[in-house]
Amino acid sequence: MSAPPPLIPLAETIRARRSIRRFRPEPLPDALLDELLDLAVEAPSSWNFQSRSVVAVTSPEGREALARAAGGQEQPRRAPVTLVFVAECEAWRHDLSDVYETALERGAWSPEFAEMTATAGIDFQRDLDARGLAREYAVKDAMLAASFAMLAAADAGLATSPMNGWDEAEVKKAIGADHRDDLAIALLLSIGYPAETRAHPGRRPRSHHVYAETHGTARTEGGRR
Ligand SMILES: Cc1cc2nc3c(=O)[nH]c(=O)nc-3n(C[C@H](O)[C@H](O)[C@H](O)COP(=O)(O)O)c2cc1C
Repeated sequence: MSAPPPLIPLAETIRARRSIRRFRPEPLPDALLDELLDLAVEAPSSWNFQSRSVVAVTSPEGREALARAAGGQEQPRRAPVTLVFVAECEAWRHDLSDVYETALERGAWSPEFAEMTATAGIDFQRDLDARGLAREYAVKDAMLAASFAMLAAADAGLATSPMNGWDEAEVKKAIGADHRDDLAIALLLSIGYPAETRAHPGRRPRSHHVYAETHGTARTEGGRR
């Protein structure tokens, strides 16, 4: 008997994705890379301020610089492209009128909502900044974009390697942003065609980290306690 269809179309992709560290050398078709980048920036962001950017590094020199910045990790050297997800910690200080205008033109936001976003949203960001949290919040936006890219790549049959192990100053230098104190690096994501398979390393049982209503209260399958 065949397995029942997944309840969620993306479920198989999410479960089958693995961190892959060996890649075949062939490049990604430009159109596919463009689509992955478009899907990355489809990720939601706080207030839709889109406080993140992504740098696609494909040149041999750029990849080599990223491998060195990543403490000699081979993935940026082996994969045809590494995406550098950047937190734009001060995006909220800049002109956001295009964000408001686009949402208005598309009928997604009312004029009142756009006005509220332009005032309350900026106040929210100013408060974060005063509390030293602007970077953390921009990193959230960047990490969501990276997650979207990782799943989109997996859905396209590509392999990915997310990386946190790198020297931020060196990564910034590799992408020509060493003079930018307003930027922080969130994640490196090497992408390409897999040259290895990896077993699922497993996750702790759901009782260990999935709760109902209050932290520490187990949630059993189907929501029954
Ligand atoms: C935020 C983050 C940072 C990571 N950094 C690295 C890294 O620097 N080098 C590496 O080889 N793997 C890195 N990984 C991959 C993890 O080791 C891997 O996701 C974990 O072992 C689970 O394996 P799976 O991705 O195959 O499910 C990172 C993963 C995440 C989510």
